[in-house]
Amino acid sequence: MNINLGKGGDVTIIPVFKDTGVVENIEKLYKYLKEKEIFKGDSGELFADIASEDNKVLLVGLGDRNKLTSQSTRKAFFKAGKKLMKLKVESVGVSIPKWENISHSEAVRAVVEGLLQSEYGFEKYIADKKNIPSIKDAYINVPKDREEESKRAIDEIKYIMEGVFLARDLVNEPAISMTPKMLAKMAIKELKDLGVEVDIYGKEQIEELGMEAYLAVSHGSSQDPQLIVIKYKGDPSSKEMLALVGKGLTFDSGGYCIKPAKAMDTMHSDMAGAASVIGAIKSIAKSKLKRNVTGIIAACENMISGAAYKPGDIIGSMSGKTIEVLNTDAEGRLTLADALWYAADTLEADSIIDIATLTGACIVALGNINTGAITNDDTLMDKVRKAGEIAGEPIWELPNNDEYREMIKGDFADLNNIGGDGAGAITAGLFLEEFVKDTPWVHLDIAGTSYLKKADGYLPKGATGVPVKTLYYLAKNSNI
Ligand code: BES
Ligand code: ZN
Ligand code: ZN
Repeated sequence: MNINLGKGGDVTIIPVFKDTGVVENIEKLYKYLKEKEIFKGDSGELFADIASEDNKVLLVGLGDRNKLTSQSTRKAFFKAGKKLMKLKVESVGVSIPKWENISHSEAVRAVVEGLLQSEYGFEKYIADKKNIPSIKDAYINVPKDREEESKRAIDEIKYIMEGVFLARDLVNEPAISMTPKMLAKMAIKELKDLGVEVDIYGKEQIEELGMEAYLAVSHGSSQDPQLIVIKYKGDPSSKEMLALVGKGLTFDSGGYCIKPAKAMDTMHSDMAGAASVIGAIKSIAKSKLKRNVTGIIAACENMISGAAYKPGDIIGSMSGKTIEVLNTDAEGRLTLADALWYAADTLEADSIIDIATLTGACIVALGNINTGAITNDDTLMDKVRKAGEIAGEPIWELPNNDEYREMIKGDFADLNNIGGDGAGAITAGLFLEEFVKDTPWVHLDIAGTSYLKKADGYLPKGATGVPVKTLYYLAKNSNI
């Protein structure tokens, strides 16, 4: 779908609030629909009339005028896009006047995002494709004095959605093809041309770096680990750097603490953190944000073989801390321990966000709605939470009392990798904290939000691309 600024389109989308009295050009039709309660303007409600030759319309309900949010707008326009696709409409126009609750550029972004969201499907492996985006052109009509602002908003949301869709595609790809090597290849393919530096370190170099915890996890697999380091330098004059560390398990069988079949078939999605880092850096680079952002991904598989690590193993780490492996399925934190240390110690990042499908416990606590967070820095946490609000990707901070820290102490090593009974999402996060030194850091547990068993609003079944949008807005608004 091309997004154009100006008037045009075979079908006109007409946004309608609940209290709207008269709708221009379709006064009679609207009066009838309202009287008969066929269309009331509830948020997300649709009514299409594309029979007439010269006045084809799609009414889109926006609900109460004073309750309008970016999120409700995205959802309504996602539905509109789906409907238009069903009707095989090829071009569409929409006027965006000034809405009271949200700023003009937020409104433009939400409308365009909703329409773009309606196009996504992962049908690469399906012969009989059902998701065939029909809309070739969308025309966004705005008041004259808003044109410049609107143009920027359109470009921005287009770049953001490219990152979101890239992350989804990477996650939806099965583990048979999305190996650590393929993930590294994809990072290069998607980012190099944008002037982003992508360095790949193989097994021997990872050994030289002393990343013993990461390597231990990778031992059982015949696919070599790949450490992917992505450097975007949007502000060369500054030394300040934000590190995004993504969990990159291209498959998590659980290792010798093997997962039951029902919990294993979606574990190609255990690299959703890594995918969100690649996707976000793509959006950031395309938008040419003035920030320095480094992505770090310790990619590997957690498998079973004669070489695999075992329950009870005591392993080292790049930081020097030792870890008792009480469960081989708590592998993400081991790979992240070394990736975080690399970000904090080797690269001396000024702030670190890690993004990980880390625990089933986080899904128990928050379901698929909120991403769970743990932090050592309230200021950074506030920025991340606000970026999540702008993005429509809610984040909920979990507590981090010292008592929880007792639970990850080891009996025969410095740390253990499972914590105690209960609070699994918290102890997993606090385990990571051991490897960030004093760097301001936020951990995002996306186990529940990055992958869905069934579609929810504009988020499709399978990979959602969460939290690419949040990471983009965080990088953009250093002072939000
Ligand atoms: N990748 C899983 C977490 C996960 C579960 C992500 C479900 C998405 C959906 C992680 O490696 C894991 O297995 N964690 C264990 C930790 C436990 C053994 C301490 C878990 O959550 O059960
Ligand atoms: Zn696991
Ligand atoms: Zn895992």
